[in-house]
Amino acid sequence: MRKSRLVIIGLGNVGRRLLELMELKRPLLQERFGLELVVAAASDTSGAALASTDAGLDASVLLGLKRAGQGVALLPDRGRPGMSPLDVLRLVDADVLVELSLTNLKDGEPGLSAIRAALARGMSVVTANKGPLVLAYPELAERARSQRVKLLHSATVTGGLPTLNIGQRDLGAAVIEEFEGVVNGTTNYILSRMAEGQSYAEALKHAQDIGMAEADPTLDVDGWDAANKLVIIANAILRRPTTLKDVTVEGIRGVTAQDLQKAREHGKVVKLIARAEKAGEDYRLTVRPTHLDKTHPLADVGAGMMGIIYHTDINGTVFASIEEHDPYPTAAAVLRDIVNVYRD
Ligand SMILES: NC(=O)c1ccc[n+]([C@@H]2O[C@H](COP(=O)([O-])OP(=O)(O)OC[C@H]3O[C@@H](n4cnc5c(N)ncnc54)[C@H](OP(=O)(O)O)[C@@H]3O)[C@@H](O)[C@H]2O)c1
Repeated sequence: MRKSRLVIIGLGNVGRRLLELMELKRPLLQERFGLELVVAAASDTSGAALASTDAGLDASVLLGLKRAGQGVALLPDRGRPGMSPLDVLRLVDADVLVELSLTNLKDGEPGLSAIRAALARGMSVVTANKGPLVLAYPELAERARSQRVKLLHSATVTGGLPTLNIGQRDLGAAVIEEFEGVVNGTTNYILSRMAEGQSYAEALKHAQDIGMAEADPTLDVDGWDAANKLVIIANAILRRPTTLKDVTVEGIRGVTAQDLQKAREHGKVVKLIARAEKAGEDYRLTVRPTHLDKTHPLADVGAGMMGIIYHTDINGTVFASIEEHDPYPTAAAVLRDIVNVYRD
């Protein structure tokens, strides 16, 4: 049995569900991969909890604390109030950093420094956090390469939909002529509701009421979340060193119910599409509301769904979609990445 010692930073929506799935899948992971996952340390805004034995921290106790609205630093004996993720990485002997803290697009912190520190220590990294990758993808990928460890982040793009894995693994010998995707669930929900007759304001309020849209929806409705995902796709799949300034971005605030009505009369559907089109040796990268024919596969990607298409030179046209109503598929993508650290 191979033991993998994990440091988990962030036990929010995704981190808590990851702990649940690790417990649920423990027998399967042991039987199928001979792999036992151990939580060597966990970190949140309260500080950290460090395991004292090889058995690691008890996931159900951590979950109990978080469900009660408490921090991991309150764990009896093992809690370390105020201990930073960097101190945890300095002190704890572990194999994989699982970085699930909040996305910060200003400076990437605390995830960026933690990922750098883990890679420098020769740990593999699994993350769902877009911030560090959007800001520093080439640097982090190079650090992982030179340390001969893995940096896996399939959950950063379209949650549970394996967009990156399809591109990296299954289309590895292809040239991607074009990528198109409905990669932001919130805007897709709003546009889908507007297509049913709601105004933009009504659809946004509904999305906020059900917890799908943030109180400040700027990142989603102005197209930046989709652009962040396109930046990661461009770096990871198109092998194009890319930052946000390379993407032309237009959000959905200007789309009206009348626009959608008119589109419908012409047999079209409006979606916020993230697109990479080959232009000579380079790619043109855009995020914008786009009129699609009703027969276009992404036209059927409705509320609660995301979908992507790769148009390739030798692998044909590959379409994939997901229906995702909670963070479990994202947590499952993180678990898959942890397993994949040990595959190949
Ligand atoms: N939710 C999804 O469906 C989804 C999908 C794809 C990607 N993601 C990405 O996955 C990551 C986690 O998402 P989430 O929904 O789980 O976020 P969340 O619920 O806001 O949880 C964030 C976690 O990070 C912790 N944290 C914040 N600052 C920290 C610091 N300085 N040091 C240590 N821990 C810190 C928080 O601690 P406290 O618990 O003490 O507040 C919390 O546990 C984000 O980057 C998000 O963009 C999420």
